[in-house]
Amino acid sequence: MFDQIHTILDEVNEFESYDLKQIEAFRISYLGKKGKITSLFQSFRDVPVEHKKEFGQKLNMLKNTAAEKVNTLKQNANKGKKSQNNIDYSLTPQPTNLGSRHPISIIREQIIGIFSQIGFSVSEGPEIEDDWHNFTALNFPEEHPARDMQDTFFISEEIALRTHTSSVQVRVMEGQKPPIRTISPGRVYRNEAISARAHCFFHQVEGLYIDEGVSFADMKQTLLFFTKAMFGEQTKIRLRPSYFPFTEPSAELDVSCTICKGKGCNVCKYSGWLEIMGCGMVDPNVLENCNIDPKKYSGFAFGMGIERIAQLIYEVNDLRLYSENDLRFLRQFKSAN
Ligand code: DAH
Repeated sequence: MFDQIHTILDEVNEFESYDLKQIEAFRISYLGKKGKITSLFQSFRDVPVEHKKEFGQKLNMLKNTAAEKVNTLKQNANKGKKSQNNIDYSLTPQPTNLGSRHPISIIREQIIGIFSQIGFSVSEGPEIEDDWHNFTALNFPEEHPARDMQDTFFISEEIALRTHTSSVQVRVMEGQKPPIRTISPGRVYRNEAISARAHCFFHQVEGLYIDEGVSFADMKQTLLFFTKAMFGEQTKIRLRPSYFPFTEPSAELDVSCTICKGKGCNVCKYSGWLEIMGCGMVDPNVLENCNIDPKKYSGFAFGMGIERIAQLIYEVNDLRLYSENDLRFLRQFKSAN
């Protein structure tokens, strides 16, 4: 009798299933009217009196164990069933949280895209630069006041954070023979107090075109192509005489105001024009410094600030927004390409 109880208990403990039908079959065969455990209750009367108490206790324990086992297995089976079938295919999916590209990256890519259409490659140089590449080779004589045009972060007497991407033109010319057609996007640094209109770092794109017989007219046409592609077909340009040590003649390029289309507004200070870059014919001294023969080759260079272009395209007036990484600002560029 007692042996039977132990055998059945082992069977109960061993039984495992996630299938509701199997579990129910198990219940019936053990706890049902004619089940193994139920029939043991019927043999209770045949148990000798002195064993009745122990037998009763063990039998109850077996019954409870089996009942609990059936309950637990049924619950587990139901849970499994739910997780398999609980998908509501008609529900609208949770939107995927897409990141957005930074406005400076968007504009940089657009600039690269436009110049690559007319054969310009992309070149880069170091942000920590030596005096030669940032100044001397670009025709800034030592002790010359032109060096003060750009407030510089010096690391040592000879090494500084580059103040402009013009340093990359020197590196390209030193390493490549003409024809050269390249643009150099990158970050530059100036020792300026941070405000809405100035920052201690920002981004520029430098351009350089060197070949035989390159003229000022080629430069004008190239920059006209760029401005129309960037700001729209109706955009006009004008070149104002200017001064840079590394170009001769030098100019500043204005575009017709992108906001008021030239009529006059507070962005263009009612002039109808906005300055967007410096440019000019590469000074023969610079070519010579880079071992390019100025009698054979000529070329033009230009440099523009990416933040400046972004300000005009997105009409964002505070420069600081571009580096603060405020998500409320950045999220607005989600749909931009
Ligand atoms: N490097 C100048 C600056 O940072 C911009 C510039 C002006 C670049 C004229 C040029 C250039 O290549 O020809 O202000």
